[in-house]
Amino acid sequence: MADQPDRARGRFITFEGGEGAGKSTQIRLLAAALEASGREVCLTREPGGSPGAEQIRELLVTGETGRWDALTELLLLYAARRDHVKRLIEPALERGCWVLCDRFADSTMAYQGYGHGLELDRISDLHRIVLGDLKPDLTLVLDLPPETGLARTRTGGEAARRGGEDRFERMELAFHERMREGFRTIATAEPQRVVLVDAARDPSAVTAEVAALVRARLGAEL
Ligand SMILES: Nc1ncnc2c1ncn2[C@@H]1O[C@H](COP(=O)(O)OP(=O)(O)OP(=O)(O)O)[C@@H](O)[C@H]1O
Ligand SMILES: [Mg+2]
Repeated sequence: MADQPDRARGRFITFEGGEGAGKSTQIRLLAAALEASGREVCLTREPGGSPGAEQIRELLVTGETGRWDALTELLLLYAARRDHVKRLIEPALERGCWVLCDRFADSTMAYQGYGHGLELDRISDLHRIVLGDLKPDLTLVLDLPPETGLARTRTGGEAARRGGEDRFERMELAFHERMREGFRTIATAEPQRVVLVDAARDPSAVTAEVAALVRARLGAEL
């Protein structure tokens, strides 16, 4: 029986949520579990993920909070995202890799749209111009109160380790609250793709739910 050409394509999973929600922790654990089950995994992140996009990332994550106006920031993010998708994500999916990405387009909607007040339709229009109808197969939004997440990053998260890359964390709490509501609205609007995961629980409970979702929604043998 001939395989459908589509069958060999990998799956595209994104992790979203506020700072310190546990995205990087959980994505690494999922990558390890999928690899142990025999899948080829490509673990990546945004902004960045390809050499060109990492250069653009530097412009985005360092410097004054008001360094870029909202639309300029959006264009930089989408320039980086296109490079990342064309050079890394699409080729990896085509060769059957399961691509796990730490933040993707929903972060742009949450930050630049719900956070900064850019028109949501404008952001989706730009997404279509730059990436057509590319969307993740599954998006896990790690949801928790921003104060809890920000407290975690101050005590041990990447922000504490990655000197100077804290332009987004330093924005006001109300901004982070708007972002959280943005992620929740996206999850309600696209329940087939996006799932909210309660990230205030201990890490092992979150890991178990993530594995169960990837099993149930994408048929992974975890
Ligand atoms: N469920 C959890 N409960 C308590 N602490 C956690 C939990 N998950 C992760 N942490 C800790 O919180 C900190 C931030 O976690 P992590 O770096 O995974 O979050 P993140 O969402 O990737 O953050 P950032 O947005 O800064 O990249 C780390 O010190 C991590 O060990
Ligand atoms: Mg992280």
